[in-house]
Amino acid sequence: MFFNSLKNLVKRNSLLWGEDVAEAYHGAAARDMQVHWDQFIEPARTRHPIDYSHVIDFACGYGRNTDFLLAWAEKVTMVDVNKHNIDYCKKKYVNNPRVSIKECNGYDLRDIPDKFCTFVYTFDSMVHFPPKIVKAYLPEFFRVLKPGGYALVHHSNYTAGGSGANFRNSPHWRNYMSAEIFSNISKAVGFIIADQTVHCWGDVSDLDCVTVLKKP
Ligand SMILES: C[S@@+](CC[C@H](N)C(=O)[O-])C[C@H]1O[C@@H](n2cnc3c(N)ncnc32)[C@H](O)[C@@H]1O
Repeated sequence: MFFNSLKNLVKRNSLLWGEDVAEAYHGAAARDMQVHWDQFIEPARTRHPIDYSHVIDFACGYGRNTDFLLAWAEKVTMVDVNKHNIDYCKKKYVNNPRVSIKECNGYDLRDIPDKFCTFVYTFDSMVHFPPKIVKAYLPEFFRVLKPGGYALVHHSNYTAGGSGANFRNSPHWRNYMSAEIFSNISKAVGFIIADQTVHCWGDVSDLDCVTVLKKP
């Protein structure tokens, strides 16, 4: 019953960023990556002693984040629910032995073993996820991280529409979530909140948050 409800959410909400938006989203976003990195990622990542031995780029799209993460990471495992994105990345990184790619089911990481990686990273994806899917993934991030590992999660800080609202009507398609709710879910799973920074997205102030989590 619980899994059926998650599967339905994935069918309705999670398959919107594939081939149909190859240029409109993935192409345009790749050109913005340096600006996004400087604003959202670099300040947060440099405040913590993150071990980049094995990084998961979660909800990876076409890999614009992986391209940056490879500057530090020894290995990157890319994960996404959309088969088109997975196939795209398999071709893009075919000659890179430091990159591996896994398709997931949209609500857990069952094909990834416990204590698999040292850093879970996700940018510009979970901002759109339904809260139930965020809640389903957080224990999985905890499980796949080695003790002492960090997760850097870019998520929504938008609650104005209410929890049942259609996220397509929200600014920049942000789903219902807040820094406080995200922090509470993460703590319940066992994470330490290392850092939270609320950000604007475009001209909408306080719309997003970058949370850095530590597994004790
Ligand atoms: C807006 S794109 C961002 C892609 C990438 N992070 C970037 O910054 O370019 C959202 C990504 O999240 C993936 N996605 C959406 N729902 C997902 C889910 N439930 N589980 C895993 N990936 C998901 C999509 O397939 C897509 O690749």
